[in-house]
Amino acid sequence: MKINKHSWTIVAMVAISTGTVGCSNSTGRADSVQIPVSPADFETTVDGVPVKLYTLSNDELTVTITNYGARIVSLQVPDRQGKPVDVVLGYRDLSHYRQEGEAYFGAIVGRYGNRIAGGRFSLDGQVYQLELNDGPNTLHGGKNGFSGKVWEVQQATADSLVLRYIADDGEAGFPGRLEATVTYRLTTDNGLAIRYRATTDKPTVVNLTNHAYFNLNGAGDPTILDHTLMIHADDYSPVNETLIPTGEIAGVSGTPFDFREPKAIGARIDAANEQLKYGQGYDHNFVLRKSPGLQPVAMVTGPKTGIVMEVLTEEPGMQFYSGNFMDEVQGGKGDHIYHHRSAFCLETQHFPDSPNQPQFPSTVLRPGEVYQTETVYRFR
Ligand code: BGC
Repeated sequence: MKINKHSWTIVAMVAISTGTVGCSNSTGRADSVQIPVSPADFETTVDGVPVKLYTLSNDELTVTITNYGARIVSLQVPDRQGKPVDVVLGYRDLSHYRQEGEAYFGAIVGRYGNRIAGGRFSLDGQVYQLELNDGPNTLHGGKNGFSGKVWEVQQATADSLVLRYIADDGEAGFPGRLEATVTYRLTTDNGLAIRYRATTDKPTVVNLTNHAYFNLNGAGDPTILDHTLMIHADDYSPVNETLIPTGEIAGVSGTPFDFREPKAIGARIDAANEQLKYGQGYDHNFVLRKSPGLQPVAMVTGPKTGIVMEVLTEEPGMQFYSGNFMDEVQGGKGDHIYHHRSAFCLETQHFPDSPNQPQFPSTVLRPGEVYQTETVYRFR
């Protein structure tokens, strides 16, 4: 981002962090970007803490975030004509985000994103029972997960937002008081970077991710089956009928899970395949082919807008979810109803159920250690 030469603009941006548009910049592009929701519909107090909207903006991107669940509410990206397109799904007001059964639109999920079998694991000989909220399992931290918490805003600038949530020892059944910080930052190369940090006072497990639902043709477009997807993964994690990994790491070669060359998401999604049957489409962890550090792992193209999104991450895995459980979701921005498979998620992560699968990369965090990881969604 260009932090503007004019310091008044930065002041203005922080002041309008509850406002409607991004800050000005040298090209003026962000000036003309109107956010697709009304801040007044998001301003309230939840659990005694103020909830607001924060808009970050630079030459190319405008992102609006609420500190309720540290959620991305909209992300506006220029299409091939330079016209801003909102590429993430979201609700038109905070009350819809707070509804039971809401699908984690744009949220930071934790303390453990994805599933833990039976909501139970043992650590250092102690057994922990979590809240069950997905049939027999715990999903995205349980009913009392991070996506429904009000995060404290630690810093808001024109192009970054630092949010903190402190989970109590025992909250949602997890051990350890966990201090989690998420930093959203617009990068100078058209990326939205999400940096995660956490520390604990007792041994615990952590797996934080963002649950944005993307449609690169624009939120509200009826399908993502026409998007082309490439994932740098030679293997994936097959699951059982409750979507818990079996523990096997299976090759993608010769299966509908082979996205090593770009393929339309819809090309094989309804193939006769037991794994696709369990997920009702794609809902699987891909074992990323990558060296350590922040690496490109996936690329998606929306054919109508020409928008291309690359995913870069430090994580070893990524859940590709093709919106199979979406069913005429009401309350969308701009009065959109979101249809079945009208969005996809690429949730960078450690593997699901790692606390019960010692052969998977460890998700254990101990006192004195720092959990740190970064993912970038980059556009062109
Ligand atoms: C899961 C899906 C689930 C979705 C919304 C994804 O991370 O893999 O199974 O339906 O989140 O909860």
